[in-house]
Amino acid sequence: MPNSLLLQALQRQNQDRPPVWLMRQAGRYLPDYQALRRKHTLRELFFTPKLAAEVTRMPVEQLGVDAAILFSDITVISLALGFKLDFNEGPILEPMWNGASDLPRLDVRSVLAPIGETVSLLKGDVPLIGFCGGPFTVASYLIEKHSGSDLPKTKQWLYRDPASFCRLLDQITDASCDYLQMQVEAGASAIQIFDSWAHVLSEEQFKQVCIPYWKKLLASVGVPGIVFARGNSFRVETIEAALPAAISVDWQVPVGALRKKSKAVLQGNLDPDLLFAPSEVVQEKTEALLESMRGDPAFIVNLGHGVKPGTPVESVRTLIETVRNFKR
Ligand code: CP3
Repeated sequence: MPNSLLLQALQRQNQDRPPVWLMRQAGRYLPDYQALRRKHTLRELFFTPKLAAEVTRMPVEQLGVDAAILFSDITVISLALGFKLDFNEGPILEPMWNGASDLPRLDVRSVLAPIGETVSLLKGDVPLIGFCGGPFTVASYLIEKHSGSDLPKTKQWLYRDPASFCRLLDQITDASCDYLQMQVEAGASAIQIFDSWAHVLSEEQFKQVCIPYWKKLLASVGVPGIVFARGNSFRVETIEAALPAAISVDWQVPVGALRKKSKAVLQGNLDPDLLFAPSEVVQEKTEALLESMRGDPAFIVNLGHGVKPGTPVESVRTLIETVRNFKR
């Protein structure tokens, strides 16, 4: 029988143990992924449907997570906006956007066709989560080289000329709507928006450059949508305005406390660094999280951000096994 825990939880109707999957579960720390990486460039992995599907399946087959997340990257949408894109450690984009004119608008479904094909190869026992970047975060990659900065060029642009900045967000959003729809038509059962760099924004800016664009993206797909913005778990009530099915939260605030403020489906919220602790500690913290949400029909276990490179696979296994063994 297909595993429907994730979809049940996204409808707030889960009567079983909570589902578990992890952001960035598909790459990095998995030995089989590293072996594939020695044979192929990242670009090959992202754009060869057979390979991308193989990486997507790894954590499902090897670790028993309750959902797959498409193996791709949030920056691929830039190809449909006329940029060149390659990867070394992180994405490399050319040219940087200078705001002088609107971007070309290529046909998303042709430019990103291999990703649609990857999704269509992934009809398995667990639901597939499609994704895109939050328009603000994607914009930041079009504007500057990241390398751990707090996005000065992006924010200065927003202060200097909000109208052209928002026009850029509109263009990214329109292309991302097409991109998500392509993933859903190919078989994705849910989608997640990763606005990973939204923690640099003030409350006012967050309402200006995240919420309306998420709302448009979420309304355009016919499946439940999860939103993730790093460092924003204290803003669940603000986030509800975008009408997501679920809010992915980090470890700043205990999920039990967030449940008192919000009826939304909550996803989270273990610290990725916890996975570097001994197994007993991983088990203990995971059990404490499960206990704090016992009986909640609208809870999904995840980390508060992606699995880090170098994470011991055994710790990930312990986390997942602990959730799978939990009796509701
Ligand atoms: O981590 C997050 O905040 C999630 C959102 C996000 C993704 N890509 C989703 C993703 C972000 C912020 C990116 C940008 C990006 N792309 C980075 C971060 C660089 C920075 O500026 O800090 C990096 C290193 C890349 C390139 C990239 N993307 C690599 C090398 C890989 C492969 C494996 C890995 O994680 O190292 C990816 C895959 C990727 N990016 C996935 C997702 C959801 C695939 C799914 C998965 O790994 O589970």
